[in-house]
Amino acid sequence: MQIHSSIPEMRAARQRHGRVAFVPTMGNLHAGHIALMTEARAHADCVVASIFVNRLQFGPNDDFDRYPRTFQADCEQLATAGVDLLFAPGEAELYPEAQQYHVDPPEIQHQLDGEFRPGHFRGVATVVLKLFNVVQPQVALFGKKDYQQLMVLRNMTRQLALPIEIVGGETVRAEDGLALSSRNAYLSAAERAEAPRLQRILSGVRTAVLGGERNFARLEREAVSELERHGWKTDYVALRRQSDLQVPRASDAQPLVVLAASRLGAARLIDNVEVDALNGH
Ligand code: PAF
Repeated sequence: MQIHSSIPEMRAARQRHGRVAFVPTMGNLHAGHIALMTEARAHADCVVASIFVNRLQFGPNDDFDRYPRTFQADCEQLATAGVDLLFAPGEAELYPEAQQYHVDPPEIQHQLDGEFRPGHFRGVATVVLKLFNVVQPQVALFGKKDYQQLMVLRNMTRQLALPIEIVGGETVRAEDGLALSSRNAYLSAAERAEAPRLQRILSGVRTAVLGGERNFARLEREAVSELERHGWKTDYVALRRQSDLQVPRASDAQPLVVLAASRLGAARLIDNVEVDALNGH
């Protein structure tokens, strides 16, 4: 695996390949990222990953400084996964001057996770467009665990007519159901044992909807109460339409998704479960 930290070098290396599949990351890689690398291989002969902890998408009270940085171990995992090129720029390379031009996503950037992380999706969209311009991939892969991020980036790509196919990878879970995430590292042993409850509750909401429950607001309230009873501090549990993440009508037959963000100790965990009432799963 070749590692490049400068934009001109990365561009030159990329030009030596035809079709490229790209997986942007912030490092601290786990099996969820590696599954994306493996899936990327099915889309192109050349797989490019990036590692960059993007200050622009962290708020002043977010965990930018303590975000786990594990570069050596990440490189080993990427090489083992057969990644061809790694783009790992420093901050001065990607932001040599204060970033004054941004991608400003529409209203959805202020809802759900965006309500609790102002500026987050603007920071994500801006850095991803910049990374796309450096790597120039034909395909880019993002995990469905960050469901809202995937939707924002899919819509950005379509609306800005970028010649890139966006692919969503399934969430990878531990055996007990907890979605893999770099932020799981912030959990104590007791919190780690509690953490799978989030996924169990979201699956319970899915079961209720598939069983015909149409009072979505009540399902959301009950899910929040259940989490609070077990010591969680919940930002939201929300049943939304998969297509645009807007609030569904009770009569909506289209595919839904239940999304949540909740804090357990020092960790803010997010997760989601798709509810496809038409296909019954
Ligand atoms: O999902 C992530 O790791 C980040 O938000 C991304 C897409 C790499 C942009 O910094």
